[in-house]
Amino acid sequence: MTTSQTPAPTTVLSQDELKTLVGQAALQYVVPGEIVGVGTGSTVNKFIDALATIKDQIKGAVSSSLASTERLQALGIKVFDSNEVNRLSVYIDGADEIDGHGNMVKGGGAALTREKIVAAQSSKFVCIADDSKLVQTLGKFPLPVEVIPMATQRVIAQFAAKGGVGKVRLKDGKPLVTDNGQFIVDVTGLQITDPLAFEAEVSQWPGVVTVGVFAFQRAQVCLLGTTSGVKTLIF
Ligand code: A5P
Repeated sequence: MTTSQTPAPTTVLSQDELKTLVGQAALQYVVPGEIVGVGTGSTVNKFIDALATIKDQIKGAVSSSLASTERLQALGIKVFDSNEVNRLSVYIDGADEIDGHGNMVKGGGAALTREKIVAAQSSKFVCIADDSKLVQTLGKFPLPVEVIPMATQRVIAQFAAKGGVGKVRLKDGKPLVTDNGQFIVDVTGLQITDPLAFEAEVSQWPGVVTVGVFAFQRAQVCLLGTTSGVKTLIF
């Protein structure tokens, strides 16, 4: 991993301001005249706002969630169906955790399946995050797993055999339903020391739609918002 850093801001920035900073910094990876892959979450919302300032220089976006689609369209950015588009040069998204190799945990916003689809369609994954997301080993943040509803209890039992405690994510007292009509199981108590092997294994469990470990679709670049400016990590 190599790192570089922009000059430190003169005042101490809040977490929200750090998100704005990395959202704006991500513009340098947008290729003029092309379609850009856009993730989901509060950090990506800052990127979308920044993208709107150069919307005339891009063709549009492929979006990873209904929420991002709504925001992009409200700002006048055209959203393409992923099936209409071949390869994307770049996908820009946040993360719940990222390690020193670009492996991530994602899905805190329940959009992990579409995020993985758009990431897989893209040549480069640029992760934007504040520095609270940088970890040594993945597993501190509850691991989101999108699951077909009838499989939830068995998938929870399979995680229990690995030492994890899985819970169906709720919204207003009922299971949260994803953009794809499925449930999310959040798993605590895991130490994901081999993200590639872990992702490969869990992805094969019957009923698992997507596991929130992004090792096959890991980040090549991370723009990390720190109190000493934007740190660029290259993996
Ligand atoms: C959405 O499902 C997630 O993968 C987000 O990318 C992740 O939760 C980061 O979100 P924030 O930028 O809101 O922290």
